[in-house]
Amino acid sequence: MTDLDLSFTLNGKPVRLHVRPDARLLDVLRYDCGCTGTKEGCGEGECGACTVLLDGLPVNSCLVPAFQVAGRSVETVEAVAPEVTGPLNRTGTAQCGACSPGIVVMTRWLREHPEVLQDATLRQFMSGNLCRCTGYDSVISGVASVLDPKETAGGEGTSA
Ligand code: FES
Ligand code: FES
Repeated sequence: MTDLDLSFTLNGKPVRLHVRPDARLLDVLRYDCGCTGTKEGCGEGECGACTVLLDGLPVNSCLVPAFQVAGRSVETVEAVAPEVTGPLNRTGTAQCGACSPGIVVMTRWLREHPEVLQDATLRQFMSGNLCRCTGYDSVISGVASVLDPKETAGGEGTSA
C-alpha cells in the first residue's frame, strides 16, 4: 500500500505528512501529529471521545479517513481546551477523564453555536458524548456553566 501525501491545517498550523491510504484521522492526530489529547474510546463512532472540529464542525475522528481532511482545517482539544477546561474542572465534570476531550470540544462548539439548543436540550445534544464515570449530571452542569455562567442547574434549565 503506497502512502499518500496529506496536507491540512491543524490547530491553525500547516501540516504535511505521508499517511497510509486507510489511516484514520484519529490515529494521524495521535501518532503522527502528537495530539494525544484526542482519545479513542469505542473506535466505532459511538462515544464521542475522539471528537475534533473539521472545518468548524464536530466529527468523530475515529470514523474519518485521514485523506478526507486534505486541504481542510482540523482543531483538536489542544487548541480549544484553554477556553473551557477551567469552568469544566470547577464543576467536577471529569473523573477518569477519558471522555473529557470530546466534551471540551463539543462545549467549545456549542458556545459558538447556541442556536442548536433551540431544538434540543443540552442533555439531548450531548448524548453523543458518553461518560461511564459521572452519571452525566456533573457533565451537563459543567457544560451549562460554560455556555451560561449563571446556569447552575443540573442540566434541565434554560440552556440545558
Ligand atoms: S472513539 Fe470515536 S466515537 Fe468513540
Ligand atoms: S469521566 Fe470517565 S468516562 Fe467520563
